[in-house]
Amino acid sequence: MNYNFDTFIDRSNTQSLKWLRHKGSDVIPMWLADMDFACPPEVVEAVKKRAVHPIYGYTEASDELKRIFIKRVYENSGWKIDPEWIIWLPGVVVGLNVACRTILRPGRMAAIPSPIYPPFIEAPHNMNQGYLITELENIEGRLSLDLDSIDTLIDDDVDLFYFCNPHNPGGSMASLDEINSIVEICNTKNVVICSDEIHSEIILDKSKKHIHLAQTSDIAARNSITFLAPSKSFNIAGLECASAIIPNKEIRDNFEASMKGIVPPVNIFAYEATMAAYKYGDKWLHELLQYLKKNRDILVENVNTMPGLSLYPPEATYLAWIDCSELNADSPAKFFIESGVGVADGSEFGDKNFIRINFACPESLLLKALDRMKEALG
Ligand SMILES: Cc1ncc(COP(=O)(O)O)c(C=O)c1O
Repeated sequence: MNYNFDTFIDRSNTQSLKWLRHKGSDVIPMWLADMDFACPPEVVEAVKKRAVHPIYGYTEASDELKRIFIKRVYENSGWKIDPEWIIWLPGVVVGLNVACRTILRPGRMAAIPSPIYPPFIEAPHNMNQGYLITELENIEGRLSLDLDSIDTLIDDDVDLFYFCNPHNPGGSMASLDEINSIVEICNTKNVVICSDEIHSEIILDKSKKHIHLAQTSDIAARNSITFLAPSKSFNIAGLECASAIIPNKEIRDNFEASMKGIVPPVNIFAYEATMAAYKYGDKWLHELLQYLKKNRDILVENVNTMPGLSLYPPEATYLAWIDCSELNADSPAKFFIESGVGVADGSEFGDKNFIRINFACPESLLLKALDRMKEALG
């Protein structure tokens, strides 16, 4: 290993959202989706280099960044992105909201598979629009789309389908068949798919490859908005850089019009960091994935021996969605937080019987958290 993911880096004086939540207590924060690892050194260097120039004026993405990004996506997946399709955004959540503003006509709804990362549910709320929930199927712990239920539920009132692949919180990756089915259902019903693929570079299972929904057919491309970002894979979420990829010109123009006056441009440092991550970060990413996979395996092995808990091994992401329904606790999240492990509460994602744990931390911290869980369970 060239990079050291074992070192504990103190984030307590950095206004880290994750570490602020339990400040002043001994609780290990494992709730929010950023990693307790240093990002690639080239990213730090690029940010420092830009900081030395004393003028931080309005800035655009360079053509080189677009070229590198397009090349990267093509090499990873075979998806050919046209430069015109790309819209840079200060974060994917912004994009989820803009998509809602763009696509939903007055009084219409978004369809959202649940459980899900909370900002999906919040987006229609924020835009004073409705939504309906389609429950994900839990097949022996693995979350996947319930296509029959989606087909039945999506009717004339729905304009938009929110898709999260790889899935947060479930960690599952959609198969080509699943993607084809959802594309077909949405196309038949005139529903645009908003595909959040922010976790698509954090694939833990080497035998699996991420498939971008929009690369699967012309229909999929014409009928979708895809979100990608370097923030999860390179641990630069605080810099806020993402992109919407919209092959359909009409949707793209409307999306840009919906951004006007409310979406700020991406900041200078975010562009520099993204460029450095894409140009030089792959060795780091490769080692990170090995480290995450080991942490995932440790977590799965331990959790599945704990009474009342079960965990399907996440195929992607650094998030584990732990089933606590046999635990007999009113709030499993509260139970574990009071035991010193700062988990995310499943109720925020749509299922109070689950907790979500972020395992992107030094192994020693993960083991400490697991010890606390074991002790709490007696
Ligand atoms: C599925 C998903 N989308 C979006 C985000 C946040 O994206 P951003 O910080 O770019 O707004 C997260 C963060 O955890 C996520 O898991």
